[in-house]
Amino acid sequence: MNPLRSAILAAARSDRLRSTIAAAPPTRAVVDRFVAGETTADALRVARALVDAGCAVSLDHLGEDVTDAAEAGRAVDAYREVLEAVAAAGLADRVEVSVKLSALGQGLGAGGEAVAYEHAAAICAVAADAGTTVTVDAEDHTTTDSTLRVVAKLRETWPWVGAVLQAQLRRTEADCGTLAGPGSRVRLCKGAYAEPESVAYRTADSVRASFARCAGTLLDGAGYPMFATHDPVLVRVLTDRLRATGRDPATAELQLLYGVRPDEQRRLVDEGHTVRVYVPYGTQWYGYLMRRLAERPANVAFFLRALAGR
Ligand code: FDA
Repeated sequence: MNPLRSAILAAARSDRLRSTIAAAPPTRAVVDRFVAGETTADALRVARALVDAGCAVSLDHLGEDVTDAAEAGRAVDAYREVLEAVAAAGLADRVEVSVKLSALGQGLGAGGEAVAYEHAAAICAVAADAGTTVTVDAEDHTTTDSTLRVVAKLRETWPWVGAVLQAQLRRTEADCGTLAGPGSRVRLCKGAYAEPESVAYRTADSVRASFARCAGTLLDGAGYPMFATHDPVLVRVLTDRLRATGRDPATAELQLLYGVRPDEQRRLVDEGHTVRVYVPYGTQWYGYLMRRLAERPANVAFFLRALAGR
């Protein structure tokens, strides 16, 4: 892995850097590029604009790695509030939510998985009432088995719960086969976490090749694939394949992150694809922002310029 990317991803887990960077006022300009704002109203405003522009949306209330049960409970409250607001705004057919199990208590010791399941189930129940769906984000590889167990359990009650698989993990091709069944919603992404060679492909080419193989498995299956990438090579492969098979655009999604390649979002909508934009909001933006910086050296330069006040 590129040393700059490794260093930034390590910084993403540093509490000391988190408080130093969060205290620097010019950081705001960088945050605003990738994060919709801090409040439910901010999230709704951005979601509505994207829906008006022809996109679907997945709202992510920022937070991860919570260290106490009360914080996990507050995350559930935030999701309840935003889901009720989505329903009240009449956006439930276009706007869903994404959740991170580490924000819901997954890492809270031996019972963490059960706590995260209970909290995720509470969010799914509100989403069902609101008339929308939930997708469970993927985090680092030490959580994959636990996360997929929770998703499987949630799907017993809410079969529309989405799973996320990371093409950089060597296990993912097999996971795609397991999860490609009827009705199964699966988001395929490259993976944003620094992972060891023993479990992950570590070069850009090998990750891209894995993504293409995994995408093939999902497209050959009976589920609902959601391809989350900004990579122009992969976008071309995917759109060619969707076009060549004459697949109904309503049966697969292309997904992008808020603030990344907005021109491409518009182009894909204009081509008739179902495009969903992942929109993070809230005050806990540090880990998310650092992963976005790690993806692209030009973002680091942008960030440093903002910190220097230029
Ligand atoms: P890659 O990083 O190779 O980027 C290709 C090109 O896209 C770049 O050359 C650049 O032009 C542009 N680009 C990419 N990232 C950019 C950025 N940050 N800023 C500006 N331009 C950028 N990961 C994870 O581990 N768990 C998850 O649950 C999710 N969920 C998720 C949802 C959605 C909708 C998306 C799009 C992505 C995720 N990810 C994720 C993140 C994903 O794993 C991956 O880290 C990023 O999408 C970057 O990988 P790309 O496939 O875009 O390619």
